[in-house]
Amino acid sequence: MILSIESSCDDSSIAVTGINNYKLHFHKKISQDKEHSVYGGVVPELASRLHAVALPRILEEAKPLFPELKAIAITNEPGLSVTLMEGVMMAKSLSLSLNLPLIPINHLKGHIYSLFIEKESFFPMTVLLVSGGHTMLIEAYSHNDMRLVGSTGDDSFGESFDKTAKMLDLGYPGGPIVESYAKEGDENRFPFTIPLSQSKEIAFSFSGLKNAVRLAIESCQPLSEQDKKDVCASFQKTATAHILQKVKKYFKNSPPRHFAIVGGASANVYLRNKVEALCSEFGAELHLAPLAFCSDNAAMIGRCAIPEYHLENYSTITELNANPKSALFD
Ligand code: KG4
Ligand code: ZN
Repeated sequence: MILSIESSCDDSSIAVTGINNYKLHFHKKISQDKEHSVYGGVVPELASRLHAVALPRILEEAKPLFPELKAIAITNEPGLSVTLMEGVMMAKSLSLSLNLPLIPINHLKGHIYSLFIEKESFFPMTVLLVSGGHTMLIEAYSHNDMRLVGSTGDDSFGESFDKTAKMLDLGYPGGPIVESYAKEGDENRFPFTIPLSQSKEIAFSFSGLKNAVRLAIESCQPLSEQDKKDVCASFQKTATAHILQKVKKYFKNSPPRHFAIVGGASANVYLRNKVEALCSEFGAELHLAPLAFCSDNAAMIGRCAIPEYHLENYSTITELNANPKSALFD
């Protein structure tokens, strides 16, 4: 079994996964939504202190499985430097005390493996990764061959939900709150411009939309609850239309047999439904991770670590470092 640790942002999570059968023997996650909600976003120092309490508490519960362990997997990139370090330090201590190899895992690759929890993996597929930190279209040919088709030049899809929620004083994380407000709103009330619709490139941008949302909010002070719902619905419609336009452009050029959406924002049902319709139009099969594994978790890190274990892609205690900025595609 492999013990995996995830602490790249505001979720403390540990999992234990069977190497030969992919079975998830243990998985626990403690989220910090409540603590960060008052600030309208993640406060790195606070997140780090909360990891320092939560991770050892979860580890205690995984202790009975220690004799079964063959390796320690750890998210070491990308993420918040101070929170990554909490997990990295724990992984190093475990590696030293249990005399086990260390497997560094890229968080973005981990999200792709959320599709394969307790399952065989399959490639090739095209993956839309939408999280709080990233918005990417990726061609995944194999475990070791993943190519970036396009990404965001500024904010990410999930982040734009968080910022909309913050401007409307709705709390953190914004995604689920904005999505539920949008259900009761008029999505045509604010005709926001779809970003980059004139550009031929597969690229994403959400900062212009964020400013348009800010101006809309300023234009209707004091805001009623219905105004907030209409802003959320109009924002979600435009942000999703932007993703859809770019994915459609990609499908027209190179229609994939398999398409997947991963990352925390892949929980968005409005986005899921729109992408599902697009996939059936182009004859692509849509793959989604179970809701429990969409947001950050250690199960996806442990699953991703299995091929790394077979390849013996180990790191030493002195080599292993947190790389906050490193992405899959440098
Ligand atoms: O993957 P994740 O847990 O963390 C990162 O790696 O960033 O993604 C968290 C992000 C947050 O920005 C959150 O607001 C967004 O995913 N999110 C959503 C939804 N649920 C979570 N965005 C839109 N709609 C949702 N239902
Ligand atoms: Zn993530």
